[in-house]
Amino acid sequence: MSALPTKLETLAIHGGMPVRTKLLPYGRQSLDDADVQAVVEVLKSDWLTTGPKVGEFEERFAAWVGARHAVSFSSGTAALHGAAFAAGLGPGDEAITTPLTFCATANCILYQGATPVFADVSADTLNLDPSEVARTLSARTSSRVKAIIAVDYAGHPAALDELGELAKAHDALLIEDACHALGAEYRGKRVGGIADMTVFSFHPVKHLTTGEGGMVATDDARVAEALRRFRNHGISSEARERQEAGQWFYEMVLLGFNYRLTDIACALGLSQLDRLATNLARRREIAAHYKSAFRNLPSVVTPTVRDGVDPAWHLYPIRLRLEKLAAGRTEIFRALRAENIGVNVHYIPVHRHPYYRERFPSQGSYPVAEDAYERLISLPMFHGMTDVDVEDVIRAVSKVVSSYAK
Ligand SMILES: Cc1ncc(COP(=O)(O)O)c(C=O)c1O
Repeated sequence: MSALPTKLETLAIHGGMPVRTKLLPYGRQSLDDADVQAVVEVLKSDWLTTGPKVGEFEERFAAWVGARHAVSFSSGTAALHGAAFAAGLGPGDEAITTPLTFCATANCILYQGATPVFADVSADTLNLDPSEVARTLSARTSSRVKAIIAVDYAGHPAALDELGELAKAHDALLIEDACHALGAEYRGKRVGGIADMTVFSFHPVKHLTTGEGGMVATDDARVAEALRRFRNHGISSEARERQEAGQWFYEMVLLGFNYRLTDIACALGLSQLDRLATNLARRREIAAHYKSAFRNLPSVVTPTVRDGVDPAWHLYPIRLRLEKLAAGRTEIFRALRAENIGVNVHYIPVHRHPYYRERFPSQGSYPVAEDAYERLISLPMFHGMTDVDVEDVIRAVSKVVSSYAK
């Protein structure tokens, strides 16, 4: 890796030369000719949606993550909504989740008319803390909790065994929001075959993209059937089955949505799946470079990896030791942006958003998540990053934090 800059180098925010001339985003897709070809073939075929590519993508995806079934959705958010429905959440029910996530994780509970209950995260991984979940469960007077929705923050699997046991003991389901964690491993298994339902997103910044898209993986055939109906208006058969059987008759058996993923998107997903292992390996390589480059920067805390876990590194969130800096997170963030490093912050805790504050004015406090939020900065992390990109990030972080060191 390149030599660290001297403390005297003028920051771009103060008129110095930026580390890069063009902004490096925090995440972006990588597409190749095979992806384009796969999409073009579908565009020339008979089925743009509800066709054969959907089942093919679902089967290959399920096999890849190690689940019996996978049901595709038009986005990760729609997939979460499907999972909340299949868990039986409805008015009067509750689901426990983490505040340190994208709002879609908690919103899916509200879509079903149920109530989200937040529990704080563990200080090392920033994932849902099982002891906080246990405390929250024991404080409930009636057993209205039907689901625990854990997030694999940044791609590090949540404490799935402990949370699974808590869910089982309370007759609830464990839904794993693995939108950051496709390909992550937990105690020797890929995420997807561990929780009752595991939800993935195929947004362009993720490990595999279909433009927009999502998936729910499960071993339970009845849950998979409920998910299939829910994403198809609540109708009991699929259009292609009817066409092939020469039948028009169908029945709507529950209130569902049109959350279908198109054949165009599934063809892209199938093509991208071929490169998933390579993409993951690159992300792991970048994470290792960052970790080793920042080990001597006293104001930077790199993400912890627990024993028995291999994260998928959707994000690379560092935490600032603000005590050692003469500037706050906002100034450091702005200084990095001025160096043309597309840093980001994941996340504003969900309960702090105006909608949640107004709807649930008496939410509790979540000190670990809130303290983390004040210090977090996500560095660029995507599998298409070149070695020069990685070095630019390292140089810019070192330049900025050294310049503000106390
Ligand atoms: C943790 C988490 N859950 C859910 C989602 C929603 O996924 P999508 O954008 O595919 O709807 C995201 C999106 O980034 C996410 O980060």
